[in-house]
Amino acid sequence: MRFEHLAETDSTNEEAKRRALAGETGPVWIRADRQTAGRGRRGRRWSGGAGNLYATGLYRLETQPAKAAQLSFAAALAVADVAAAAGVDPERITLKWPNDVLVDGRKTAGVLLESGNAPGGGLWLGVGVGINLVDHPEDAERPATDLAAHGRALEPDAALRVLADSFDAWRRRWAEHGFAPVRDAWLARAHGLGGTCVARLEDETVEGVFADLTSEGALRLDLKDGRRRFISAGDIFFPSAR
Ligand code: BTN
Repeated sequence: MRFEHLAETDSTNEEAKRRALAGETGPVWIRADRQTAGRGRRGRRWSGGAGNLYATGLYRLETQPAKAAQLSFAAALAVADVAAAAGVDPERITLKWPNDVLVDGRKTAGVLLESGNAPGGGLWLGVGVGINLVDHPEDAERPATDLAAHGRALEPDAALRVLADSFDAWRRRWAEHGFAPVRDAWLARAHGLGGTCVARLEDETVEGVFADLTSEGALRLDLKDGRRRFISAGDIFFPSAR
């Protein structure tokens, strides 16, 4: 596995995409000290100061985009390993659907997977990961924290080594055994499993019990009227936890 470091770029995900379209196959992890146009899920921006981790792993896969998307759960598991390496009590680390990593219920990291057709055939996959190592944004709606506040300050390079090693181990397990082991490990740390959950979708809001993660990576909500809803894109909130 290769590692590349940039002082500044627009977005490590964008950099990975440029390289993929130019024929780079990876695996390579690209890390930047600063991003000028960092992006988050659902068109949001991802900003933050120097000292946090901004990195994207570029891979070439022979699979469908929907299958490759399962690797976002592997990325969240790898981030949980980074949190443990920073000395955070593992009991306090939970995973919020789809890919957030929380400490004491507050967001410490986000994952943004992007993919497309690779010029030489197959799929390029960019596994974008932002981890609040030493500071975090103030956001009332999505309370955040950083790993140093609950453990110690990891250098971005050290954090990236742990992340890349762990992600790669999960990726190999996934390639060999499918989504099941990733899903099981993710569910064992799932935030709010069995509790009331509100899913904010494009054009509606649905409330139910967070009952399961499907074999496709969708969230299963059991509604009061007995119906089940499968959520594959959106934001979720846990009203009772606030
Ligand atoms: C989220 O919205 O929770 C996902 C945030 C992902 C941010 C990371 S930082 C490194 C990589 N480059 C980007 O532009 N985004 C991802």
